[in-house]
Amino acid sequence: MINIEVVLSPALLHLSNVKDKNVVVIDILRATSTICTAIHHGASSIKALRTPEEAKLMSSHGYITAAERDGNKLEGFDMGNSPFECMNGKVQGKSIALTTTNGTKCIEAAENARARNVYSGSFLNLKAMALKLASEQTDVILLCAGWKDSFNLEDTLFAGALASEISSLTETDIDCDAALMSMDIYNLAKSDLVGYLKKSSHYKRLSHLHHEEDMVYCLQHSVFETVTGLVDSEMKKIV
Ligand code: MLT
Repeated sequence: MINIEVVLSPALLHLSNVKDKNVVVIDILRATSTICTAIHHGASSIKALRTPEEAKLMSSHGYITAAERDGNKLEGFDMGNSPFECMNGKVQGKSIALTTTNGTKCIEAAENARARNVYSGSFLNLKAMALKLASEQTDVILLCAGWKDSFNLEDTLFAGALASEISSLTETDIDCDAALMSMDIYNLAKSDLVGYLKKSSHYKRLSHLHHEEDMVYCLQHSVFETVTGLVDSEMKKIV
C-alpha cells in the first residue's frame, strides 16, 4: 500500500517527513512540463538551479542556459522556460542549466530533504509517472510549486490527477486533506482543464505574456511515456 500526501506549497514542505519517500515536483505551467518535454526530446540532463547567476556559470561547462522569472525569458540566456524551445532537435544530446521562478527551487528543496527519488511531474507523462510510482510501492509526496509560496490551481489539479491515477493502479492510503481536496477538484475540472484554468492567476499571467499555446500544450494528458527524475543531482530519463 502507498501513502500519498499532497504538499500545496514549498513553504509547507518542512511540515512533512520527506526522508526515503518518492517526491514528485509539480510545476505544470511550465517548469516540470518543460523538463519532461526536454528529456522526451533527447536532452541528456537538466540541472535545476536556484539563481540566474548559478545557471549562467554553467555555460562555461557546455550547458545550454535557460532562465525565466515571472513568466519572462531572462536576457542573456539561450532559452526561457517554454516547452516549445526544447523541440525540433534543439536540445538533443545537450545538458541544460535551468532556473525558474518556482519550480527549480522546489527540485532543490526535495533533494535536500533526502527524498528517496525526486521526479518531475507533468500531465504530459501522467500515466507513465503513475505506473512508475505504483511499481515502486514507496510512499509518495506530491509537491506543488505554487506561485512564490502561494497556492495555485494548476499544480493542485495535477496532484489530484496523479493521486487518482496511482489509486487506479494499486492500493493507496490517502488520509491527507490536501490530497483529498486535490482529487475532488481534479474530478470537477478534468472534462475541460483549459477552460477551468482560464480563471486562474498564472493562466492569466502567462496569457498576458502571449504564452497561451504553452499552456494548452502543458495540459495535454499522457502524450509520452518517458519518466524524468534526479540522477546525480540532475534531471535525467529514468524510463
Ligand atoms: C515557475 O517556475 O513557476 C514556472 O515555471 C514559471 C513559468 O514558466 O512561467
